[in-house]
Amino acid sequence: MKNIDNPSEKIIIALDGMDKNYVFKLLEKIPEIVWVKVGLELFVSEGPEILSMLRDKGKKIFLDLKFHDIPTTVAKTCFAASQTGAEFISLHTCAGMKALKMANEAAQEGAAKVNLMPPKLLGITILTSWTSESFSSDLLINQSIDQRVKHLAKIASNSGLGGCVCSPKEVQFLRKAYPQSFELITPGIRPLGSDVNDQSRVSDASEAIRMGASKLVIGRAITQSNDPGHMFKSFCDKVIV
Ligand code: C5P
Repeated sequence: MKNIDNPSEKIIIALDGMDKNYVFKLLEKIPEIVWVKVGLELFVSEGPEILSMLRDKGKKIFLDLKFHDIPTTVAKTCFAASQTGAEFISLHTCAGMKALKMANEAAQEGAAKVNLMPPKLLGITILTSWTSESFSSDLLINQSIDQRVKHLAKIASNSGLGGCVCSPKEVQFLRKAYPQSFELITPGIRPLGSDVNDQSRVSDASEAIRMGASKLVIGRAITQSNDPGHMFKSFCDKVIV
């Protein structure tokens, strides 16, 4: 049976490599965009006001700042971040269970303080730019990426996080282990045969959704194309599987 949910809900546009004027031009051009991802580039260059501006336009926000620090710092940061109204907030699972649990509690408290729904915290597993070769040569980790991702997803789930960010290559085995309510968000989405840029563990949109991804993060394949509106629509067609 075909998935008949609103396909635009499945795509999170990564607002990288652009300033706020470009962002709002893009959103005007493609009003169907529901979800946007504010990462380090946009947040650092435009400041936190960009979040309220996006909320005023009715967009749902994935605040992807990938927090990684000692438990107290991560928790206090999540307390503050949960007051911005972002629906998803990312942090590195490598910060460890103590940090993840404290962050989760702090996010609930932070949102409650300003009468907002608590965000879902998403644990970053292994960035989609890593390969098993760079993983072992740069970090001296000889465990496979799959094994490591499995373990980090378990830490995220056991800490009460709302989901994980992983590559489309790991979605299938994670979805077998976790129910649909545990978000599996996958960057590293490319149309078949296109430029992968700095990503390594990539896949195409239909496959990632079929394997069990909840939502896809798509940046350059849409935002740097000659016709972003057309690309967005063609990805929407692909996520109806
Ligand atoms: O342009 P592209 O589609 O490759 O953008 C991917 C986006 O997803 C970037 O904003 C990057 O920071 C983010 N991301 C990622 N890998 C992760 C988590 C987030 O590429 N594991």
